Amino acid sequence: MALSIFSPLTIRGMTLKNRLVVSPMQQYLTPDGLVGTWHMVHLGSRAVGGAGLIITECSAVSPEGRNTLFDTGLWNDEQVAAWQPIVQFVQEQGAKIAIQLWHAGGKGSHRHPQEGMTYLPPTEGGWLPKGPSPTALGNGLAAEALTLAEMETIKANFVAATQRAVQAGFDSIELHAAHGYVFHQFYSGLTNHRTDQYGGSFENRIRLLVETVQAMRQVMPEAMPLLARLSVVDYSDDPRAWQLADGVRLSAILKVHGVDVVTASGGGFVTVDPATVFPSYQVPMAEKIKTETGVITGAVGMINEAQQANAIIASGQADLVLMARELLRDPYFPLRASRELHLTAEVPQPYKRAF
Ligand SMILES: Cc1cc2nc3c(=O)[nH]c(=O)nc-3n(C[C@H](O)[C@H](O)[C@H](O)COP(=O)(O)O)c2cc1C
Repeated sequence: MALSIFSPLTIRGMTLKNRLVVSPMQQYLTPDGLVGTWHMVHLGSRAVGGAGLIITECSAVSPEGRNTLFDTGLWNDEQVAAWQPIVQFVQEQGAKIAIQLWHAGGKGSHRHPQEGMTYLPPTEGGWLPKGPSPTALGNGLAAEALTLAEMETIKANFVAATQRAVQAGFDSIELHAAHGYVFHQFYSGLTNHRTDQYGGSFENRIRLLVETVQAMRQVMPEAMPLLARLSVVDYSDDPRAWQLADGVRLSAILKVHGVDVVTASGGGFVTVDPATVFPSYQVPMAEKIKTETGVITGAVGMINEAQQANAIIASGQADLVLMARELLRDPYFPLRASRELHLTAEVPQPYKRAF
C-alpha cells in the first residue's frame, strides 16, 4: 500500500504515529531560557492537533549560544525541570517530542525581534558574538574568531545539554546546523576563513559538526534518534558558497556518525530572492539527499496543504514533512488533513463527538 502522511515511521526506538512534524519555531518569550505556560499551551495544542513529532524551537546550550536574551535554553537543571511537564503532556497525546539544540555563534547577541533584531552590545546585557572567523555575517556584524579552547567548550556544552535532554524525557534531539548559526558558519566557505584544522578543506570545515555529533552520540541512549537540520545550500553564486553537492556529501557523513534524520533547509547568510520561494521549493533537495544517501529525510518550506504534504510522502520524495507557519495558522492541521484526505488520524478522546 502507498505511504501517506499518516503512515507510522520507526526511527531507532521511536515510533511516530504519522509523518507530520511541527518544524522548530522560536517564540522569543523566555527570559533566562526558561519555558513556561506559553510553551505548554503552544506545543501542547499542536500535540492535541495530531502532529506525529514536535520539534521545539531552538534551545541554546549556553547563555552566549543564544540569539537574543529571550531564547529558550538547556544549560541548567532549572530548565530541565521547566521542560519536563511539557514533554510529558505532549507524549500523553501520543506525539513524540524532540528538542532542537543550538548555538548561534557569530549571530549571537541581538535585541528582541520587536526591537529590530539589531546588535545588543555588552553594555546593555549582550556579549561579543564569536564564530569561526572575524567575518561580517548577514546582520553586518563582524564576529570574533573562536579559539580552539572555546570550540572545545561548545562541544562540551552540547554534550551536557544532550544529557539534560535525556533527563527531561525528550524522545529525540535535533541538532540545529542550519540557517547561518555556528555549525553552518563553520561549514560554509562564505564565513569560515580559518587556516587551522577547522578551516580550508571540506573535511576541515565540517569537523566541528562531526566532532559534536560524535560526542553527543556517545552520551545518547542507543534507542534515541538524533536529527540534524542542515542548510544544504547557501543560495549564493559565490564560488566559496555551500552547494547542494556539499549538503549531500555532509548528509552521508553524518549518517555514518549516527545522525538518523536530515532535514533539508537552506540559507542563512544571503537574502533569498522571493521569486525562488514557492510551494515545496526545497523538496527536490530533500529528495536528492534521500536518494543519494539513504538517510531518513525531512522536507520543509512552504508545505501548507494536505494533498501537497501527502504527495511528498506518497511519491517517496521525503520521509517526513515539516510544517512551520501553517501550523501557526492552524494547530489542528493534521486532524483537518486526515478528514480532507479521508484518512484516519487518531482524534483526542474528549473531541471524538466532533469527528
Ligand atoms: C516564527 C518562526 C520561528 C522559527 N524558528 C526556527 C527555529 O527555532 N529553528 C529552526 O530551525 N527554524 C526556525 N524557523 C524556520 C521554520 O522551522 C521553517 O523551516 C520555515 O518557516 C519554512 O517552513 P514553512 O514554510 O512551513 O513556514 C522558524 C520559522 C518561523 C516562521
